[in-house]
Amino acid sequence: MKVKVNDVELDLAPGTSAIDAVFAAGDDVPYFCSQEYMSPIGACRMCLARVGAPRKDKDGAWILDEETGEPKVFWFPNLMATCTTQVMEGMVIDTRSEPVKRAQNSMVEYTLINHPLDCPVCDKGGACELQDRAYEYGSGISRFEFDKRHQEKHHALSELITLDRERCIHCKRCVRFFEEVPGDSVLDFIERGSHTYIGTAEDGLPSNFTGNITDICPVGALLDTTSRFRGRNWEYHHTPSVTMDDATGAAVWVDSRTGRVERVKGRLNPEVNKTWIDDGTRFGHEYVDHPSRLLTPLVRRGGELVPATWEEAAAFVAERLGGLSGKDVGIALRADATLEEGVGALSLAEHLGTGQVDHAPRPAASVVAPRDLRATIEDLATADAILVVGDVTEEAGVLDLRIKDALKGVTPPALLPHGVPIADLRLKERMPRRREVLAVAAPYRVDLMRSAGASLRYAAGQEAALFAALAGEPAEGSTGLEPDAVRGVAERLRDAERAVVVLGGTVLASREATDAALSFARAVKAKVMLVGPMANSHGLELIGVLPSHASYAYPAMLETARALVLSHLDPAQDPDVAERLKQKDLLVVHDSFMTETAAIADVVLPAKTVYERDGTVVNLEGRFLRVNAAPVEGGASEDLTGLVRYLGEALGQRLEGRSVRSSRRVLRQRLDLDVADLPEWGAFKDVKGAGRGVPAPADQQGRRRGGNVVVAPSMVRPEYAYLNPHLLAERGGPALRVSPEDAAALELKSGDDVRLRVGGLWRRATVRVTDAVPAGLMTIAATPDQPQGLAHADLSSLVVLRDREAVAS
Ligand code: SF4
Ligand code: FES
Repeated sequence: MKVKVNDVELDLAPGTSAIDAVFAAGDDVPYFCSQEYMSPIGACRMCLARVGAPRKDKDGAWILDEETGEPKVFWFPNLMATCTTQVMEGMVIDTRSEPVKRAQNSMVEYTLINHPLDCPVCDKGGACELQDRAYEYGSGISRFEFDKRHQEKHHALSELITLDRERCIHCKRCVRFFEEVPGDSVLDFIERGSHTYIGTAEDGLPSNFTGNITDICPVGALLDTTSRFRGRNWEYHHTPSVTMDDATGAAVWVDSRTGRVERVKGRLNPEVNKTWIDDGTRFGHEYVDHPSRLLTPLVRRGGELVPATWEEAAAFVAERLGGLSGKDVGIALRADATLEEGVGALSLAEHLGTGQVDHAPRPAASVVAPRDLRATIEDLATADAILVVGDVTEEAGVLDLRIKDALKGVTPPALLPHGVPIADLRLKERMPRRREVLAVAAPYRVDLMRSAGASLRYAAGQEAALFAALAGEPAEGSTGLEPDAVRGVAERLRDAERAVVVLGGTVLASREATDAALSFARAVKAKVMLVGPMANSHGLELIGVLPSHASYAYPAMLETARALVLSHLDPAQDPDVAERLKQKDLLVVHDSFMTETAAIADVVLPAKTVYERDGTVVNLEGRFLRVNAAPVEGGASEDLTGLVRYLGEALGQRLEGRSVRSSRRVLRQRLDLDVADLPEWGAFKDVKGAGRGVPAPADQQGRRRGGNVVVAPSMVRPEYAYLNPHLLAERGGPALRVSPEDAAALELKSGDDVRLRVGGLWRRATVRVTDAVPAGLMTIAATPDQPQGLAHADLSSLVVLRDREAVAS
């Protein structure tokens, strides 16, 4: 479709908006209400332009200009909002003439009538669309001399979001975001005319994706409370990275200043998260500069942990290792370690000659789906039938949003020369959702069920029986499933052309259930997405950070190894395990905080947090993504490659994996992929032999039977829950969800801080009484040392902690 913007001729796809035509031509037009991935509504009138088009006569021939002989352009009588105007053959768009400039001046002046112009104290200053547009398109003077509207300037929409009502320009982006993206209609305009303000029907913002409105608000009306008044935009160091809080690989900006992480924002990756992130990812960073952070190595001398240098600590470890056989050493790292750190761990294990190397949490089943079944996030967003087993909203929040894309039935937009379309005219406010596309199964009510056409509630731990029932096999025992509902879901998947089955951690916790799910998916020709427990579960399995034998797996090595090197793991939360750890010849803990395991270690080595590491992760699709270190003050902290370097030197070896660069050389040889040079949005690479997995040790399988608590995913990382004050105030500690019946029997109420033993580990949690869980079953957030699945909670151990301060400390 031929379109002319000012002097530039373009060939555009039908359906393109006029505003995108302007940007595709390399030109500019100001706008406020339009926003990538949301419906264009023509509310702000800032994008006005003069638009014309040729016409045909009644015989279908172009009406020609008498002078030029070309089709004659008929200008529309009024200036048009380009965001809601669709291009047509021969359209001419003028953004530079006097009438357009006058309109732009007027709209800026009008938008500023009630704006407080408090830019010197506004957090958005320097990154404010209104500030930029007023500078570029305003006349520089205002003729309005009356007093401006006064409204509340510090309205806490939640503990995480602050609204300055005076600054709001009523673009409606925030209101539309909630309705159109997560489908939680929690904000709206209240009152009319100049009295209009943004508000909620009830207190708070009951959504898991609230922080995105701070990214898209074009002015400083909606602000991230964790970073409010902490810095000006030009003072921040903006580091592009990806989330390390779940397996989605959602793109983020980590904004830091004077050595602190000040805020985390969503970043564009059209194939993964678009620009959206969940609140766990956004607000879960405050722990990084908590005063209790470990900043220097500690070595136990005379029974006390005393400060030391890395060289001294490494020499201490090397000396102790000298008295041991290498195969007696166990090495385990948390599953958000980068590939480079994984290479370091493997290299150290090889040098010592031990097969006891593992990452945790690691479910019983492989997190790498067979190649022929593997679904990408784009497959999910364009599926015509989806079955989700588990609580994907808490487990991998971005998947929740991309599944909702599939319910709209609008395929992801093609990128234009300027990137994502600013106004995708296929998107509408309050679009109907094809709920029938989605079925959700879980042992308790999960958030995504609100959007699903079918919800299957099954007895906890019966995931294998669920897939047997879906496959039409006779069920053993009681599954709690309704046969008609199960049949309906199976038929829908079977009839679909682009079906996807998403398997959460409760399925992967059982090899039998996962095998049943994969067979079912094959039978109905569905693709499969496996949601690994942490950011690099997929990658660490791909490169083989796995024990050489099942009896060397992480929980087993805690029993059998004589020396342990643990990175970011805290098994001593189980007092029985703690006792055994105290008997080890050597316990080395690499962590950012003095955990219970660090407190009994021989050597404690300060670890970089996920924001301070350079490296690579592989997300749940198998996409290799670059992680970049933000300039954050972490004392003498090192990542695992640093540990390998110091220890190697103390052992008299230059080990591979002694630095990020060294690990990348190894990865280049092994994977035939240069991870130092990945495309911005990541790359796929098949790795031979991936997905073989290793069976979980027997005790972990055994724990799953007969439990009364589902260890469930959590969007907020439980390890740091008490070190993130704003998230803690908004969501409480890691939740222990209890049915009203059980709460009454246990004399618990919502908000109680409790301590109890779950699967042997002492856990702290905040009680949430809800009818989402059935009587007789509870849920508690999974941790790296307590992966998802069914476990047993010892209710006789339950104590209510009356002093909340004591818990927080
Ligand atoms: S608060 Fe911000 S995003 Fe919401 S309507 Fe006002 S200006 Fe727009
Ligand atoms: S009317 Fe607001 S961007 Fe077009």
